[in-house]
Amino acid sequence: FDPETPQYLTSDPSSFASVSANERWPVIITGAIDDLHRTVISCNNTEKENEGKGIIANLAKLKYELQHNRQLTPIEDDGHPDIASYNQELEQRGNPVWHDVPWLYSECYLYRRIESYFALSKHWKGYDVFARQKMSTFKSSRPAVIELAARYRELALEAESGKGSEGKSPEEIEAAEKLLFSEMCEICLWGNATDLSLLTSLTYEDIQKLQGSEARKASQSKILVNDLDAAFAVMQKARREKKDGERRVDIVLDNSGFELFVDLILAGYLLSTGLATTIVLHPKRLPWFVSDVTPKDFSDLLNCMVDPQAFYTAPDDSGKELPALSEKEVSDVRFLFEQWSEFHQDGKLIVRPHAFWTTQGGYWRLPHVAPELFDDLKESELVLFKGDLNYRKLVNDAEWDPTTAFTTAIGPMGPKSGIRVMAFRTCKADTVVGLPVGVDEKLRQQPGGGDEKVRKWAWSGKWAVVSFSDGKA
Ligand code: F6P
Ligand code: MG
Repeated sequence: FDPETPQYLTSDPSSFASVSANERWPVIITGAIDDLHRTVISCNNTEKENEGKGIIANLAKLKYELQHNRQLTPIEDDGHPDIASYNQELEQRGNPVWHDVPWLYSECYLYRRIESYFALSKHWKGYDVFARQKMSTFKSSRPAVIELAARYRELALEAESGKGSEGKSPEEIEAAEKLLFSEMCEICLWGNATDLSLLTSLTYEDIQKLQGSEARKASQSKILVNDLDAAFAVMQKARREKKDGERRVDIVLDNSGFELFVDLILAGYLLSTGLATTIVLHPKRLPWFVSDVTPKDFSDLLNCMVDPQAFYTAPDDSGKELPALSEKEVSDVRFLFEQWSEFHQDGKLIVRPHAFWTTQGGYWRLPHVAPELFDDLKESELVLFKGDLNYRKLVNDAEWDPTTAFTTAIGPMGPKSGIRVMAFRTCKADTVVGLPVGVDEKLRQQPGGGDEKVRKWAWSGKWAVVSFSDGKA
């Protein structure tokens, strides 16, 4: 079911695949060992402690195999049906070694194998080795969270009261709405960058100022493909034509913490402006690519926001205490919490995990591997895929010519699929499509951008693509 275009391999020294296998993954496994060790030494149950030590040994073995270029071995059956498919594909691929294997398969395998150790245990089922890291990163994004909460509250109240549209012509209202939609989407897009400095430096005073802000302009020029207008047009059409009907938007989530926070900002915005009546969020079933959202991360985020004062001022690991939030800051964050909880209780904000999202393949396989999920996504007005990995999976992490049309590269998810796909991605991997002729070459020539062999500009998360495919047209 996959395209014929070959995938990036960990053996390709010019690709970020090789940097990942050589440098990033050993660090990630070491981090997992450290985290587990910390938990093990503070648990007061000998049986649990011993079992935890066993998992640490397994993680160390995994790291050894990776660093010594051993074969990927079949994952032990932990009772979940996806294991068979991981192992079958491993065999079909001829039991490859870590440094000569398709990047996408091996990276998914890595996280699935880690999960199996916990799933097979008695005391550690559901343990997330990345949870600590996710929470502390979210805590450190306090300034951006506070600023966005204030801005969002203002907008939501304005949308509710209709005050923003008083005395304006329908054209003016539409233009303002479009601008705000783009703004919300861009916040949501850049929430995916590793470098969040952009967001903390933005001021959110009013639409005009936002449009004029240096930061926003600078960031807009980093969006190499921007199909937001097309997405806005379909959403608006749906609102007109299905005035009293359901208008659903799906978000295939990426990272938790700050990125999930901005996803919820967008979700809340779409609901409060009536651009959508339901938002379906798709988290991962297991800890995935370090920071991806699991259902527990979703509830943990809401829990932090019930009492923002306690969360944001609790001393961190270094014992450093943070200054207290003002009353207004607390009430802005609480406003978000209350609105999101209400949407959730009313069934307007739904969390729907599916095992497909943590399978090893690209989304070209979706209609065959998970036909019921494929059909379900057709019910949506727009399916938003967040982040780099979702993008890699949409295009099968293949070595496309960068000028290939997005609609071609996503294969069965493209035209006539019945699914409207929108990808919000800051580039953190080699694969990229939909670029105008010459753009890739130009970026490679910039300082640090790479050369004829290496597409280094695409690794850092500094550049983004927002690509749309209307599968219902
Ligand atoms: O590029 C590094 C990397 O970890 C890739 O392996 C992966 O595709 C991506 O980043 C994860 O990023 P995101 O959270 O945006 O999907
Ligand atoms: Mg991620």
